[in-house]
Amino acid sequence: MTTLTRSVGSRPWRPQSLSSLCALRPTRTRFIATASTTDDTKPYYVTTPIFYVNAAPHAGHLYTMVLADVLKRWQLLKGRKAILLTGTDEHGMKIQQASAKAGSDPKPFCDKGADIFKNLAARAELSNDHFIRTTDASHKEAVEYAWHLLNERGYIYQSKHQGWYSVSDETFYPESQVHLVLDPPTGRKIMASIESGKEVEWTSEVNYHFRLSAFRDKLLAYYAENPDWVTPKAKMKDVVSAVTAGLEDLSISRPSSRLTWGIRVPTDPEQTIYVWLDALINYATAAGYPWAPGSEHTGGWPADVQIIGKDILRFHCIYWPAFLMALDLPLPKRFLTHAHWTLGKQKMAKSTGNVVNPFFALDRFGTDTMRYYMIHDGGIDDDTDYDNLYIIERYKKGLQGGLGNLASRITRGKGWEVRRAVKRFSGDPRSNSPFVQAHARKVEITEFEKLVLDFPKDVDSRMESLRPNLALKKLMKNIYAANAFLQAQTPWDIAARLKKGEVVRNTQSNEDAERQMDYIIYLCTETLRLAGIMLQPVMPSKAKQLLDMLGVAEDKRGFADAQLGADKDYGASKVPQGKGQAGVLFAPLMSDS
Ligand code: ME8
Ligand code: MG
Repeated sequence: MTTLTRSVGSRPWRPQSLSSLCALRPTRTRFIATASTTDDTKPYYVTTPIFYVNAAPHAGHLYTMVLADVLKRWQLLKGRKAILLTGTDEHGMKIQQASAKAGSDPKPFCDKGADIFKNLAARAELSNDHFIRTTDASHKEAVEYAWHLLNERGYIYQSKHQGWYSVSDETFYPESQVHLVLDPPTGRKIMASIESGKEVEWTSEVNYHFRLSAFRDKLLAYYAENPDWVTPKAKMKDVVSAVTAGLEDLSISRPSSRLTWGIRVPTDPEQTIYVWLDALINYATAAGYPWAPGSEHTGGWPADVQIIGKDILRFHCIYWPAFLMALDLPLPKRFLTHAHWTLGKQKMAKSTGNVVNPFFALDRFGTDTMRYYMIHDGGIDDDTDYDNLYIIERYKKGLQGGLGNLASRITRGKGWEVRRAVKRFSGDPRSNSPFVQAHARKVEITEFEKLVLDFPKDVDSRMESLRPNLALKKLMKNIYAANAFLQAQTPWDIAARLKKGEVVRNTQSNEDAERQMDYIIYLCTETLRLAGIMLQPVMPSKAKQLLDMLGVAEDKRGFADAQLGADKDYGASKVPQGKGQAGVLFAPLMSDS
């Protein structure tokens, strides 16, 4: 791969502070393994987009953050080293205008904005290893370095640019992608992007261009070789058709007289670098770019999965790989592009103010419930309408009625002991099953055994194919199935008969009856234990509470432990059972409206 060095020799431009790059390095090795400094294997690297600080975050931003966090935590659960990056996009015309409108200088305006996104990440219990800001000094150096290389390799040229620019989207649109529309709030006729609906303005200026058109064939070849590069497939298709239709070279700077708030073109202070070139490089900056030869991977690059909303597909899946190819850097391994949250069927957007305040939602419903709702209902292929009523419904049906109910039926049930059942059947439960081939219930029992046996791989395969929503739905389906199984098997009837000393049908002896009851309980308890382990990435606190209730040891909560029969030692609850709220996983909601 690339052997970029930081000695620039006869090159026309040299970053001012190349030596400071080295000085910065120690603080930027935060990404490297915490456990062992000699282990330089590449961590699994997950990213969110970096968000514009023009306005406060909404539930859509929370969604992307949580999706990314769940995918990162899933890898941790599987014992891999994994890192997560999120952050803020702070340069460009959009921020310049927003700060002017707020009557503030851009930097303090961005400081405030970045803090709000940081607070959101903390409030959502994001396990991000880094929060990048494009105003960070290390990022400026990475962008300058990349510009320098692109220039040196002949990918940059200067020419006159004319076109329609949307400040809101921070992008030029070709003539074919804009149209005249009536702007309802003002009654004015405006030119707007067909795709985003955002107003565009005519711009004519001399600026720098990137030879994007030169990458058409290389990109198409790459897509053809990596058909799963973008999930969902429909978005991969969109990318391929856009590139097939042809690529125009990309304007990558604006005159500094118009755009002051950004990184200057290192060789020409009269020009400011286009915000998207600046912003995309953040993913490499955070991984330590420009890295010393041989240490490309220690910071995580290439990213294993980059998560984005469908609104920024073109920038990430056409421009970004082209920039990387031009820089001779490896491409991210996969993209997950998700659909949008709508409110009243309109896209939730900072620019329109049609938003849900995620802080209020987290305060009202709690972090775990919101994480559950966002993953469970959030769209990957199709948009989802946000509604508090749906959150309440998910809480009641899934969390209280499904998971909480199963946990309480099993751990508070009378007539059996979870610990005794675990002792009896852990290891290889099916070979010790009291339900022999001829037993009347054998078919139902075998069916449910199979469901528990397949549980981990069923959830894992969905997570690995970047479908956390389907993984969570499958998990909940098994919880509902366990409740139904319990209802059909009525172990409490066996308990009651045993207590009264009555004979239990289809049993040889009291001992045999008790074993049958315990086996039914064991399969349900295992469903709960496996669910508790696999819910940790989605609902860290509630999953912990559930595993504590089941008495699962802290060091037996990894994905490898999530196998039927694998844990012999649990079953004695660490939580006082029976009375009060201690053993209640999901308390009634304060209010139902
Ligand atoms: O585009 N539903 O930043 P941005 C779901 N700075 N997700 C949504 C959403 C919605 N209604 N609205 C926004 C930018 N998002 C650039 C990115 S990356 C190098 C630069 C989420 O503040 C979604 O992830 O407009 C979307 O892609 C992102 O926020 C856009 O955030
Ligand atoms: Mg946006």
